[in-house]
Amino acid sequence: MKYLFDTANLDLIKTYANKLPIYGITTNPSIIKKEGKIDFFAHFKEIRKIIGQKKTLHVQITTNTCKEIMLEAKAICEKIDKNVYIKIPVTIEGLEAISKLKKEGFNITATAIYTKMQGLLAMEAGADYIAPYYNRMQNLDIDSDKTILTFANTIEKYNYKTKILAASFKNMGQVNRAIENGAQEITLSPEIMLEAFKNPSIDKAVKDFYQDWVKTIGDISIDRL
Ligand code: E4P
Repeated sequence: MKYLFDTANLDLIKTYANKLPIYGITTNPSIIKKEGKIDFFAHFKEIRKIIGQKKTLHVQITTNTCKEIMLEAKAICEKIDKNVYIKIPVTIEGLEAISKLKKEGFNITATAIYTKMQGLLAMEAGADYIAPYYNRMQNLDIDSDKTILTFANTIEKYNYKTKILAASFKNMGQVNRAIENGAQEITLSPEIMLEAFKNPSIDKAVKDFYQDWVKTIGDISIDRL
């Protein structure tokens, strides 16, 4: 399993992206909006500098026609770096751009996926990742679990190279169900991931272990014994 941060916040990325086993960063224009009017290319170069080349960086295009999407994809790869995954919403124009950009060797993440057909067509167009929108599907009473399961079964049955990068999560229950249904990667906000550590039983366990150690051996760490 791989976990990515769905954020463009430099402080959060600096603080947690190398402490936690984070595989990469995903963003979209609404996530960027939270950071205010950023210097787009400089901001993403800074994210790349923090996370390094081994982690994945997914940057979304902002236009709607195949021609414009391709121009944006080329600008992103020229001005950030060629390893960036270009996030393209799965529309008819988006699918055309995905096919063409894949033929030119770009890394592609097909996004804004609400329906099975969108995801299946994106696989066929050659997308490296498909990003089903878990919470947004649930808002529309679309079965996100079955959709992800269909994607996972289709990838296995037909040997697609596409991976499922599930997105749009509002809580850890949704994350766990996406994993159980076959998502290979999950992108979530750092805030939701940090919730997993907020259980008071965890702090109590750590404190109890420390106190038992001190009572038995003394207030000395193992490396100083
Ligand atoms: C991935 O980057 C998606 O765009 C994102 O997870 C969507 O999340 P939202 O439904 O919370 O906007």
